[in-house]
Amino acid sequence: MASSLFPAVHCFSYSTVSCCFFFLLFFYFPSVSHGQNTVPAMYMFGDSLVDAGNNNHIPLSLIKADFPHNGVDYPGRKATGRFSNGKNAADFLAEKLGLQSPPPYLSLPSSSNATDTFLRGVNFASGGAGILNTTHKGQCLTLDRQIELFSSVYGGLAQQLGGVETQKHLSQSIIGIVIGSNDLFGYFKSDSDSRATPQQFIDSLVFTLTAQLKRLYNLGARKIFFVGTGPIGCCPSQRIQNKTGDCHVESNYGSILYNQGVSSLLRVMKSELGDMSYSFFNAYSALMEYIQNPSKYEFTEVKAACCGLGNLNAKVACLPISSYCSNRRDYVFWDFYHPTAATSRMLTNIIFDGSHPYVYPVNVRQLADV
Ligand SMILES: *[C@@H]1O[C@H](CO)[C@@H](O)[C@H](O)[C@H]1NC(C)=O
Ligand SMILES: *[C@@H]1O[C@H](CO)[C@@H](O)[C@H](O)[C@H]1NC(C)=O
Ligand SMILES: *[C@@H]1O[C@H](CO)[C@@H](O)[C@H](O)[C@H]1NC(C)=O
Repeated sequence: MASSLFPAVHCFSYSTVSCCFFFLLFFYFPSVSHGQNTVPAMYMFGDSLVDAGNNNHIPLSLIKADFPHNGVDYPGRKATGRFSNGKNAADFLAEKLGLQSPPPYLSLPSSSNATDTFLRGVNFASGGAGILNTTHKGQCLTLDRQIELFSSVYGGLAQQLGGVETQKHLSQSIIGIVIGSNDLFGYFKSDSDSRATPQQFIDSLVFTLTAQLKRLYNLGARKIFFVGTGPIGCCPSQRIQNKTGDCHVESNYGSILYNQGVSSLLRVMKSELGDMSYSFFNAYSALMEYIQNPSKYEFTEVKAACCGLGNLNAKVACLPISSYCSNRRDYVFWDFYHPTAATSRMLTNIIFDGSHPYVYPVNVRQLADV
């Protein structure tokens, strides 16, 4: 397992490499080491795992992180609105691609309907967001709303550059999507007897997601990078639902079903659409590996949050009144829901260079080079 978590980078099989070594050296290696040539921008959609500050601009939202101790390890100790002690996975992935981390859409001045800004990528992700419009309604940009905003960016680009150039730019860009956890949390929180079975609920999520992904495809998305849900039952907020402090079994089961549903949806979409490529990151198996074998990855605390209050620091969010740990690198979780920057950085290494069962059918390095 360890070897596939941090695999060596194999570009081609040995025989291919040896037969055309000079060709590779000259033509292939530069695009591998830089990547910017193939991926001009990243457009990010999703929830708090990749929000770079959109919720700062939603006055009525309670789902915010633009105050200490968030950002304690961010350059300048700045609380940017990221739900992390430092950078998040969107930042680390942009770095890997040789790009600036895309700015939050809502931070762009409204007069900035500017080709240059949009061409460099935009982050639409918003803390609390879900596939369903009803998930944290009014508190965030739902995925549907994020796609609407992307459509207006598309409109701005198309007017300036024309449809053909716009499509070409977007088809080479990485379209990142990190969504599903909040819908699952919402489902498992409501314990009415009349609720759908987990499988029925997941089927309805995947049904809604199908239309959302098709909309993105119709707006030019061709390189889709999708992050499935992690072992949500093991995050501190869910562990304290279990008297033993162990993971909450039912929500983990929901996450497994969701990941199965999304990865088969992507497989079907690719076979139907032909010109779409994707990379699916199974955050469940990757994060579970850390939780089950912490010492192998230099973690000492996989249960408690670093920042918070109460049992496992999971009773209260990371607020200015909360306490926080000094050894952030040793913790898997920053607060009761979110990973530390250290965890996000390690996960992004797998996203970029890893392989099955963590990321498939290709990793993001390979997706970039399609
Ligand atoms: C969700 O909201 C969007 C607008 O943001 C709307 O277009 C869509 O029809 C809504 N979906 C449902 C299922 O109500
Ligand atoms: C930019 O302008 C175009 C054309 O006027 C419009 O369709 C689009 O909605 C605008 N986009 C944004 C983000 O304001
Ligand atoms: C709590 O953890 C135990 C041990 O892993 C497990 O058997 C039990 O099902 C869990 N309870 C809940 C509510 O998830």
